[in-house]
Amino acid sequence: IIPDIEPQKETKITYLRISITDRCNLKCFYCRPENQEFIPREEVLDYEDMVKFVKVLTKFGLKTVRITGGEPLLRKDIEKFISMLNEIEGIDDIAMTTNAITLKKQAKALKEAGLKRLNISIDSLKPKLFYDITKGNLQDVIDGIIEAKKVGIEPIKVNAVVIKGLNEDEAIDFVEFGREYNVEVRFIEMMPIGQGQIDWKEDMVQPLEKVKQKIEEKYGKMLPSFSMGSGAARVYEIPSIKTKVGFITPISNPFCDGCSKLRLTVEGNVKLCLRTDDEIPAKDILKEGTEEEIEDFVRKVVVAKEISNENIQFNNYAFGECQRIMTSIGG
Ligand code: GTP
Ligand code: 5AD
Repeated sequence: IIPDIEPQKETKITYLRISITDRCNLKCFYCRPENQEFIPREEVLDYEDMVKFVKVLTKFGLKTVRITGGEPLLRKDIEKFISMLNEIEGIDDIAMTTNAITLKKQAKALKEAGLKRLNISIDSLKPKLFYDITKGNLQDVIDGIIEAKKVGIEPIKVNAVVIKGLNEDEAIDFVEFGREYNVEVRFIEMMPIGQGQIDWKEDMVQPLEKVKQKIEEKYGKMLPSFSMGSGAARVYEIPSIKTKVGFITPISNPFCDGCSKLRLTVEGNVKLCLRTDDEIPAKDILKEGTEEEIEDFVRKVVVAKEISNENIQFNNYAFGECQRIMTSIGG
């Protein structure tokens, strides 16, 4: 899928998500399969090679790097990696998506290394249900948030995947949580990507318009707002309580137009789009190529992204075959 033509448009790649490990210390039933096969450690891309990719991408517009997993806090020397990114001219936004289970003890070092923003997954505020979904301890996550606030990581957003019949009744509790901890809660529709321990079914998806209505019934009309990020979330301010919430609606209202995002997988493939399995192997070129060769490669990746974007429009945003499991994509 590597085309040998020059970029056609003024396509910019502004946002890169790097999955640095496929290992996770939680077992969310919709995300992680029972017997996950991990990528052998020797096949995992080195930080140095990730950094080479990021450096060249800054010439094509890259500003934001979001570090994901698996669970990124499990990878050794994560602070060192953040420092390396922080030294790259042109990168002014280093973010991470984490489950925050081990955040409390790492937050200070992450901040000092240059981490700017955090997105933290919490699917239920009820400790028992949280455990049932994740096999983890909710209080560890909350302690992580408190510590991250304390050391000045800002903004912190909370991701809640809303699953019909399971946690849809917690919308107001989440809003109150956002208000209390001064975090932006984003409600998410579950996507049919990389099955975990269950098969995705459309009737598990809670269209978020309903959640939005419920919030407005209680707090009054919300106003469209904005927050720094990839544009996946439609953000609103609830004026009556001065709190922001977001809605990520890949099913009921997709947001693929003009996507300027790439993903780098844990074994060093460039993933062009979350909704398909189109990946371009990059490990060898990143390991062995000169800067010029890497730049030439990236130019072709940009063209491939243009084509991928056009195909998505053409297919009306449908989800394609996606074999890679979500826990190894990192969202
Ligand atoms: P920021 O906007 O930088 O705060 O990050 P984000 O919301 O894009 O990233 P995060 O890792 O917090 O992901 C939140 C949800 O958005 C997850 O369910 C992701 O899978 C989903 N998401 C992120 N990017 C995309 C995308 O390009 N397409 C789709 N369909 N979903 C996405
Ligand atoms: N659909 C939507 N979001 C998902 N996440 C994991 N699997 C899915 C899915 N199938 C979320 C996680 C985390 C973020 C990285 O992606 O809950 O918050």
